Amino acid sequence: MRNLIAAASLTLLAVTLNATTATANPATTIKDATGASFTGDATAGEKTFRQCAACHKMEAGKHGIGPSLNAVVGRKAGTGAGYTYSGPMKKSNLVWNDQNLADYLENPRKKVQGTKMTFAGLRKPQDRANVIAYIKKAGGGR
Ligand code: HEC
Repeated sequence: MRNLIAAASLTLLAVTLNATTATANPATTIKDATGASFTGDATAGEKTFRQCAACHKMEAGKHGIGPSLNAVVGRKAGTGAGYTYSGPMKKSNLVWNDQNLADYLENPRKKVQGTKMTFAGLRKPQDRANVIAYIKKAGGGR
């Protein structure tokens, strides 16, 4: 009987561990305009993030020129607490995911017309995938 209970708890533990690995920072895969797929590498993305770091911090509530990117993936655009967004960002009706974030980072002012993010964009799709993988790993959400 005791063995049975031990086995049952082990199974439960295994299921829980599995669920944790499956949901924590799942792989980042995005497509470019031609439909080609790119999988993000968080380590490479940390270097790409240097282009964002002048305006963005990963720490929750730490806003600079741009809002904190903590927990941004999975959140509705323009809703980070304590930051004043542009009207177009607030009205964009986007819920950030890998793909629409990649599209925004390719050409911010095309994806959200009137955004106050004055960043030219990441031209290379691999850079976009990498930086999103990094953001998720650094606390930027799922
Ligand atoms: C020159 C400053 C600047 C740079 C560089 C910059 N951003 Fe931004 N970013 C902003 C501003 C300002 C906003 C707010 C936009 C608005 O309200 O229209 C913003 C908004 C965002 C948002 C939406 C946040 C939300 O809460 O909805 C994301 C995501 C984002 N930036 C990611 C990035 C990434 C990733 C990079 C680097 C590849 C980057 N930004 C580079 C200034 C910048």
